[in-house]
Order: sequence, then C-alpha cells, then structure tokens
Amino acid sequence: MSEASVRNNGPITNQEVELSDGDLLVSRTDKSGKITFVNKAFIDISGFTEQELVGSPHNVVRHPGMPKEAFADLWSTIGAGKPWEGVVKNRSKSGDHYWVRANVTPLIEDGQISGFISIRSKPTRFQVDQANAPKPACSTSRTRPSAYMRASSSGGAGGSASGTERQASPAAWPPC
Ligand SMILES: Cc1cc2nc3c(=O)[nH]c(=O)nc-3n(C[C@H](O)[C@H](O)[C@H](O)COP(=O)(O)O)c2cc1C
Repeated sequence: MSEASVRNNGPITNQEVELSDGDLLVSRTDKSGKITFVNKAFIDISGFTEQELVGSPHNVVRHPGMPKEAFADLWSTIGAGKPWEGVVKNRSKSGDHYWVRANVTPLIEDGQISGFISIRSKPTRFQVDQANAPKPACSTSRTRPSAYMRASSSGGAGGSASGTERQASPAAWPPC
C-alpha cells in the first residue's frame, strides 16, 4: 500500500478524549471491512451518526498517526482466521482522538469467515505510551513469543481447518 492510498479523514486537533472505565466500543464488519453494526458507545465517542458509520469502510475512524503496518498486521492475522489485539488511536469526527485496546476476531459461519467483530476497551496509560513510542527495531521485527499459542482443546470460532486447534492468545500490536 502506498502512502498516497492511506485514507485522509481530515484535520486533527491533537486533543485526546479518554474512554471511561468499563466502556466497551463494539463494531462489526463484513469481510471487506465495511461496517455493519456499531453500538452506542462507539457512536458516541466517534462523533459520527449511526447512519454515517454503518455502510462505511472502517477506515472512516482512521487516525493518520496510526502506522499502516498495524493494519497490515491486523488484516493478515484476521484474514487467516486468527484473533488480533492492539492499541489503536482513532480519530473522531471533530479531529480529536481516542485510544482503545482493541480485539478483532473473525466470525466463522459454515467454516468460512463471514465478517469480523471488534470489541474495544480503555487502555492503560502505559499501553498508550508504549504504542505511541514504539522502538524502531521493534516495529519492524515480528518477534512474538506469545502469539499464536496452540491449545489442545477444540471450540470457539478459531477458524482452523481441522477444528482441533484454537488460538490461546491473539497476535498483538505493537509487537513488543
Ligand atoms: C472489525 C474491524 C474493526 C476495525 N476497527 C478499526 C478502528 O477502530 N480504527 C481503524 O483505524 N481501523 C479499524 N479497522 C481497520 C480498517 O479496516 C482499516 O484497515 C484501517 O483503518 C486502515 O485504513 P487504510 O488502509 O485505508 O489506511 C478495523 C477493521 C475491522 C475488520
């Protein structure tokens, strides 16, 4: 993906809005990343209306400060049927931003990925600081000692072909 293809959602204010403890921001997409559902907490902090969000590609809330590598990692992970976790900076309609701890999980129907769901909560300040200042060597390396651990029991929508594995821990962003 070239820099020019990164979606520009407009100006930013550098003003942070913090989630409240206990907030859960939920969205669902189809396979292409087009939003099919948003909950009230997501709508409220985004500053968009439900009508503006549903039907739009999820990059409608993209913040230009988020590295494109994070989303490449997200899509390669969930496209392989695996869950992904990361600390993500989103842009609200006003140009303010809010940080979330996001979990994105494939939805599996009849053994096929039918879409994706993301559930986000308030990150700690430490997690935000880590995401905000990734070490250069870190953001390019893909060392993930704890990622993709296999568990012996089956169950859940892990998306594995055999149905005998599930993901015990998701891929994580930033990677270290
Ligand atoms: C379920 C789901 C939730 C997503 N949530 C976000 C999000 O909150 N913020 C965001 O910037 N991208 C999110 N994305 C990723 C976007 O689809 C997109 O890849 C990203 O915004 C980068 O856009 P760009 O490739 O146009 O630069 C999500 C994708 C999926 C499948």
